[in-house]
Amino acid sequence: MGSSTRSCLLLLALVVLVHGAARSRSANNRFPDDFLFGSATAAYQVEGGWNADGKGESIWDHMLHEHPEYSADRQNGDVADDSYHLYKEDVRILKEMGMNHYRFSIAWTRIMPTGEANNINQAGIDYYNNLINELLDNGILPVVTMYHWDLPQWLQDLGGWTNPIIADYFEDYARVLYENFGDRVKWWITLNEPLTFVAGYSNDGYFIQPPWINKPGVGDYLAIHHLLIAHARAYHLYDEQYRATQQGKVSITIQSDWYEPLTNSTEDIAAADRARQFYLGMIAHPIFSTEGDYPAIVRELVDKKSKAEGRTRSRLPVFSKEMVEYIRGTYDFFGLNYYTGKLVTSGETGKNPSRDRDSEVVTSVDPSWPASSVSPWLKVVPWGFRKLITWIHENYNAPDILITENGFSDAGTLEDTDRISYFKSHLTELLKAVYVDGANVIGYTAWSLLDNLEWNKGYTQRFGVYYVNITDPARPRIPKASSQFLKELIQAREIPQD
Ligand code: NOJ
Repeated sequence: MGSSTRSCLLLLALVVLVHGAARSRSANNRFPDDFLFGSATAAYQVEGGWNADGKGESIWDHMLHEHPEYSADRQNGDVADDSYHLYKEDVRILKEMGMNHYRFSIAWTRIMPTGEANNINQAGIDYYNNLINELLDNGILPVVTMYHWDLPQWLQDLGGWTNPIIADYFEDYARVLYENFGDRVKWWITLNEPLTFVAGYSNDGYFIQPPWINKPGVGDYLAIHHLLIAHARAYHLYDEQYRATQQGKVSITIQSDWYEPLTNSTEDIAAADRARQFYLGMIAHPIFSTEGDYPAIVRELVDKKSKAEGRTRSRLPVFSKEMVEYIRGTYDFFGLNYYTGKLVTSGETGKNPSRDRDSEVVTSVDPSWPASSVSPWLKVVPWGFRKLITWIHENYNAPDILITENGFSDAGTLEDTDRISYFKSHLTELLKAVYVDGANVIGYTAWSLLDNLEWNKGYTQRFGVYYVNITDPARPRIPKASSQFLKELIQAREIPQD
């Protein structure tokens, strides 16, 4: 072979290689055609109108009215982003970004002021009808969370999630929702982040939240037990009475960090698995696993400790065989919220007793991980997103996974480049989970559409892709650079390469 032929062949090989690499790179950056992009909010964080037109008092209204000092900036959700009046603006900016869906929550107390089904507030039903219709008129799918932490205070006075009767009330509430909105809402999420809100019964977790009852390792376990039943009741109700005609999907949103072993020692690997079971499996295993019920390691450790404490029964209630079956499989997709990751080793931490102590794990973070400047818990760990998605895919029978939240906080800058790189790195890892690991991720929901009331952190931690000045009575929505980034990404259906 002459030297010119050889160089020709080499050139050809090079062209083929470069072309192939470009093709696979673009395939890996591209979202599947039916992939859904959306953004999310929650009622108490954006709506305001806390007692407008017959709305009842929720546990968040109650706590922040009674204890303004619990809030970092003494703010509450009385007015918030005033979405109660400005919902058309919210829909306008969703459309501006080309969003396929909007995940919002319904305030139970807006449509049932005490939480009871014999007391319906028509003005509340009208508000959500208007919002849903406005979304549909603009080609945006409503993804509706039934419960994003704002329990009717009336039900809290009866014990809230620690009273088994809550499952009856939750089923009644779900029925009102299916009856009134199910002709148009096809995506339902029963509960948002159960393991976050049950910390209201254990006085732990990363923020003060109602009812702020100090019963760790007991109150939170009771709440977990009853919310699993409540979720299943809402799911079965849909299955039995509404699915055939309404043909939607019902599921739950679970939050989890990624738990990475601190070292590759057998002990740390086991500790990381325990962390996943105590902080994710506790809710996911009863619903999504083949066997159902609480994870075996959770059952074993809590039972053992309860016995050693001289109790007559486990602090973690026991499901009957029938109830295990009733809860198992009550999902149509896996709603996942991901923000951050942690390193795990074994050890003792937390109050005695508490879920943290029961888990026998100690978590830490790598100081080299980039972090939000305002939310101490939010370290940027995008590779954990891929690992978590893939872990769920492998452990829970490859469910369809809808990312119902992922996002980044800052103090409220319009040039939010850190948020853009957060989205970009997480979406890149998401696509690796899809294309390399085979996970069925069907959509991504950015938290949040708007800067909003970050619970008891007030407006000091802002997650929005639109800025809201809460001292301006008109609450204008002002685009941040990240909204433009999302708009371009959704249009191209591809992650832009620098
Ligand atoms: C999860 C919660 O669902 C949401 O309400 C909250 O604002 C974000 N995490 C950010 O902390």
